[in-house]
Amino acid sequence: MSSYDVIIIGSGPGGYVAAIRCAQLGLKTACVEGREKLGGTCLNVGCIPSKALLHASHMLHEAEHNFAEMGLKGKSPSVDWKQMLTYKNSTIETNTKGIEFLFKKNKIDWLKGWGTIPEAGKVKVGDEVHEAKNIIIATGSEASSLPGVEVDEKVVVTSTGALELGKVPKKMVVIGAGVIGLELGSVYSRLGSEVTVVEFLDAITPGMDPEVQKTFQRTLKKQGLNFVMGAAVQKTEATKTKAKAHYKLRKDDSEHVLDADVVLVATGRKPYHDGLDLEALGIRLTKRGQIAVTKEWQTDVKGIYAIGDVIEGPMLAHKAEDEGMAVAEVIAGKHGHVNYGVIPGVIYTHPEVANVGETEQTLKDAGRAYKVGKFSFMGNARAKANFAGDGFVKILADKETDRILGCHIIGPGAGDLIHEVCVAMEFGASAQDLAMTCHAHPTYSEAVREAALACGDGPIHM
Ligand code: FAD
Ligand code: NAI
Repeated sequence: MSSYDVIIIGSGPGGYVAAIRCAQLGLKTACVEGREKLGGTCLNVGCIPSKALLHASHMLHEAEHNFAEMGLKGKSPSVDWKQMLTYKNSTIETNTKGIEFLFKKNKIDWLKGWGTIPEAGKVKVGDEVHEAKNIIIATGSEASSLPGVEVDEKVVVTSTGALELGKVPKKMVVIGAGVIGLELGSVYSRLGSEVTVVEFLDAITPGMDPEVQKTFQRTLKKQGLNFVMGAAVQKTEATKTKAKAHYKLRKDDSEHVLDADVVLVATGRKPYHDGLDLEALGIRLTKRGQIAVTKEWQTDVKGIYAIGDVIEGPMLAHKAEDEGMAVAEVIAGKHGHVNYGVIPGVIYTHPEVANVGETEQTLKDAGRAYKVGKFSFMGNARAKANFAGDGFVKILADKETDRILGCHIIGPGAGDLIHEVCVAMEFGASAQDLAMTCHAHPTYSEAVREAALACGDGPIHM
């Protein structure tokens, strides 16, 4: 039996970051991981592999659609799917090996296997029981199931199967127009699949700024994605090579069927804590199955903490990472802090979509007076030169104080641009503060400044 200051269960972005920070703060640390590789959902079957496929398929799209206009002539590339998967897998490998290196560098023990908590202060892995003054549960999430839909990860797949298909399907049906459905739907559409997205609601990406939703859906349609909106998928039927997706339109209850080679189920994720027997430990769950925690991420049992997808809040890698750092600080007797009001969300399609803070709807619901500063990428020289003029930046600021309350971007590099606004919000900046900051020309960032100018006397290039 070994004994540790902290044992973390799960090595995703929440768990591995917590482990590194604990070790940096001088705590004797171990991390339990049941998968063959460190890094959790994000590195193995989430953020990283999906972004590799998005990158590769975007390159193809550029070659097919924009190269000739720039005077780059010649045969456009064809898809070698096996090689694309090899590239994706090598990206995973580099990143997971990187975490292994960081564990060694920080003298963190990787306890290989599935962990359980027989009692507070103890973690069992295989036949060995280890002592831990503190335990952090960072066991993440898994794809939600849908009644009537049986996943085989070959023909009816979750995102995990969709990252590993045997070939590029001719026809793909995506259930759910959320983040996973649109990112992976974009990948396969660019690779030549006929993709139909079936969405229960009347708008894509629920909760997002309605103007962004409309522009985003219009752009994706132009790129070839088909949408069936207001439709609830009732069931799927599958053989070894084909599937049917049955759906009902909400407006008139009419029933329809779509044929596909692959159906991707992307209707959300749920917290994962199988095998931990939390009830026996006296750890309470929320109604949605998340582990209930205090503001300092402690569960109902002293010395047992939880972070990441397994607790409340957006299921995002960077939210899990921030909680990982903060909980380590708390355990080390310092002050750990996460500002949940400034957690950006990014969809890595082309164009990218990014948001942070309040939406117009949340501000209206709160009865808060606000102003809107909007600027189209059509007025941005760099975007126009790069065939990226579709989209806009929208900044929401307090009507009285001018303080920035939120930002919504659809356009080139949105996922990077949003951070300028995040930093401004962290510092309590006004739109004028952003507007008065010199921005290099020609950059996409100028569109953010122009949106900030639009909150005051007006933008220059519009
Ligand atoms: P996880 O990453 O899920 O890690 C939990 C780990 O715990 C797993 O490795 C699991 O094997 C291990 N584990 C569970 N139980 C035990 C046990 N009992 N013993 C030992 N080990 C255990 N987020 C973003 O911010 N950006 C993106 O671009 C993005 N893309 C995504 C794409 C896809 C296809 C998916 C599915 C998700 C994506 N996400 C993205 C979400 C992101 O992956 C998660 O928010 C993030 O991984 C959560 O981190 P975590 O540490 O809480 O849990
Ligand atoms: P999601 O919650 O984003 O979207 C699910 C969609 O499915 C919703 O629009 C919902 O209305 C729809 N839906 C539900 N039931 C349906 C039915 N029966 N028929 C038709 N539509 C139905 O969930 P998603 O896309 O599975 O992603 C899960 C999580 O993974 C996200 O919440 C996100 O946190 C994380 N993620 C983040 C990424 C990023 O940051 N870029 C990328 C991928 C995933």
